[in-house]
Parts: sequence; C-alpha cells; structure tokens
Amino acid sequence: MHAVPRLRVIIEEDYNGISRAAASIIAKEIRTKPWTVLGLATGSTPLGTYRELIKMHREDGLSFSLVRTFNLDEYFGLPPDNPQSYHTFMFENFFDQVNVKPENISIPDGMVADVELFCASYEESIRKAGGIDLQLLGIGRDGHIGFNEPGSSLGSRTRLKTLAEETVRDNARFFGGEDKVPRLALTMGIGTILEARKLLMLASGAEKAGAVKNAIEGPLSSQVTASALQLHPQVTVVIDEQAAKQLEKREYYRYVEKMAKSVEHDTGI
Ligand code: PGA
Repeated sequence: MHAVPRLRVIIEEDYNGISRAAASIIAKEIRTKPWTVLGLATGSTPLGTYRELIKMHREDGLSFSLVRTFNLDEYFGLPPDNPQSYHTFMFENFFDQVNVKPENISIPDGMVADVELFCASYEESIRKAGGIDLQLLGIGRDGHIGFNEPGSSLGSRTRLKTLAEETVRDNARFFGGEDKVPRLALTMGIGTILEARKLLMLASGAEKAGAVKNAIEGPLSSQVTASALQLHPQVTVVIDEQAAKQLEKREYYRYVEKMAKSVEHDTGI
C-alpha cells in the first residue's frame, strides 16, 4: 500500500503519554509485518517506550520472534559488556525481556579494529536485511540524532564521530563524571537514517524544547542534524507538552491530529 507522505507532530501530556504512543506505533508496525526491521535508540527518552513494549509482550502477546533490530550507535572503545555500553543498555532495558532472537540483533561494536571496514559492513547488513522499516530516534539538546553532532554531513553514513562537549556533559550522568565519558562513538549517519522507511522521533522535557523547535520549524541545517527529518516522507514526532512549548505552530499540529481522527484519513503537515 502506498503510504501518504507526511510529517506528524503528536503532542502528549507527559512522558508516560509519549511512551505509550510510541510503543503503540511500534507495536502496530510489528503486528502488520512481524518481520519488521527496527532501528533502535538508547538514552533516557526511549526507556518508557521499551517498558511499554515489554508490557505488551507479556500481557498482549506482542511477539518479536521475527523482528530484526539495528541500533543507531555505540561508544567507541567500550566493550559490549561494559555497564555503560549501549549494548548493555539494550539488553538490560529491552532485549532480555522480550523474545527478540540474539542473532537478529545488531549493535555497532565499539571495539572494532578496522573502523571503516566495520562501518561499511554495518551498512551492508542493513541493506541485506531489506532496509530499516521504522527507526526510533531521540534528540540531543544540540539537535543531534544518533551521534550526528552539529556539523555532520546530512549525507553521512555509519562512521566514527567525535562527541560534542555538550553531549559529553549531558551523558556524564551515566558515567559518574565527564572525564569518564568516551569522546568518540560509532553512529549511523544522517544519510543512513533517512533511508529508513519511517522515522519516529521522541522528545520529553523543557530542556529539549529548543532542539525540537529547531528540528521541526527551523531551517534545514547540518548545525541541527534532526532538521534532516524535514526531508523524509514518513516522520512521526511524539513529544510532551514541555518539549513542545517552543513550537510556534503547536496549536496547528494539534488541530491536524484532530482533523485526521475526524476524517479517519492520514492527513499530515
Ligand atoms: P536522552 O538522549 O534520551 O538521554 O535525552 C537523547 C539523545 O542524545 O539522542
């Protein structure tokens, strides 16, 4: 079926609201296509979504047995079993609690010796899997998606990136100090992300309001890599009231959602 191109902005009251809405979008995708290829994200924002998906798995029989996953990024230099690695994060907060098959999980390997070869092979595995159907994204305060910091090429592919100082500071809370945060990460590029068939970006809290505004309403710019979402035909942004508060057109976005429900059609912006 041909999907209607659109950018949807869904504004929920709070963090629990965005977690439920995001999980139900992901669950719908899996129920429609049980062999869905999911692009997954780490960080505080998607935690509630993973919790909701685990609940759906336990209580409503949502099955991940055919689902294939690719994570966006990983710290460079951290072994998979390091407690702060994104590998550990994903297993603890999601994979260990649902029925995803270990052989269907891909997370960039932060310990690879040949970075270029690894990055090319990560891209190749995504292609071989048929491409990503639905990519989940958070957004950094500097407007990054994945670890595509300001200045990243909007055509970039999976590669090694230097983290911005702001990101290092933001992530210090997980490491118990800025000095312990790795300075490099492997990340899918903006070009890689834009090839996913659908994008689902989440944001919660007032500290993300500026980045959300720049991403949705600002000019397309490599200084705010999330603004590249404006180029994609199938984007859903799910944010809470606090993260929406700098959006100039937020009442219009609410109205569009209301209209879409009333006509039972996919309308969009
Ligand atoms: P957060 O990170 O969910 O921990 O705020 C988002 C991001 O940096 O992409």
